[in-house]
Amino acid sequence: MIVAVDGPTASGKGTIAKAIAAHFGLPHLDSGLLYRAVARQVVLDGGDPGDPADAGKAAAFPEELLADPILRSESVGQIASVVSAHPEVRALLLRRQQDFARQPGGAVLDGRDIGTVIAPDADVKIFVTASVEARAHRRWLEMRERGEDVTLDRIEGELRSRDARDQGRAISPLRAADDAVTLDTTALGRDEAIAQAIRIVEEKMR
Ligand code: CDP
Repeated sequence: MIVAVDGPTASGKGTIAKAIAAHFGLPHLDSGLLYRAVARQVVLDGGDPGDPADAGKAAAFPEELLADPILRSESVGQIASVVSAHPEVRALLLRRQQDFARQPGGAVLDGRDIGTVIAPDADVKIFVTASVEARAHRRWLEMRERGEDVTLDRIEGELRSRDARDQGRAISPLRAADDAVTLDTTALGRDEAIAQAIRIVEEKMR
């Protein structure tokens, strides 16, 4: 069984994908981490994230980089949404994601284009969404917990600019697949969102 979980930043897609994977005993790939690693590598190389050649070169990042906690920062997330708009970067990461999706027994992947491009044949596609305000508030709480000193306004601004870049790019823009089930988590707590997602998978597989 292949489960595709897509959605914008701080929608809860990562938490939901991880919980689905644990519940059904499937491996999970956070595809955003790959783009974050490319972003981090461009910076380490002293390259320009807006330059397709620099970003393409950074797609050959070393595997150890994936474990670096700095990849989770919002500044790396912003650069990730710049490098991820280059077709050459997406092409270089495609095979790895498709191999992961097609492994025997299946897999859960989360990202922006899993249901539309990486695994259009996925058995279950969930598009996780939430209002900008709810997502900004969640991200703000997360960052405060990590001890980062940021204002809610700034987070909301960054989130809107990342949404605009991810939705507006020419290649693999963020959008729900036609056959995806939309899960709006605006008014849902973590456990409730997970329970609904698991129900969606069970209903699809019945
Ligand atoms: O965790 P969050 O939703 O904030 O971000 P992420 O999933 O780690 O993704 C970081 C950035 O990578 C996104 O803003 C996208 O630009 C890009 N990305 C993408 O283009 N395609 C994917 N399948 C996953 C991420």
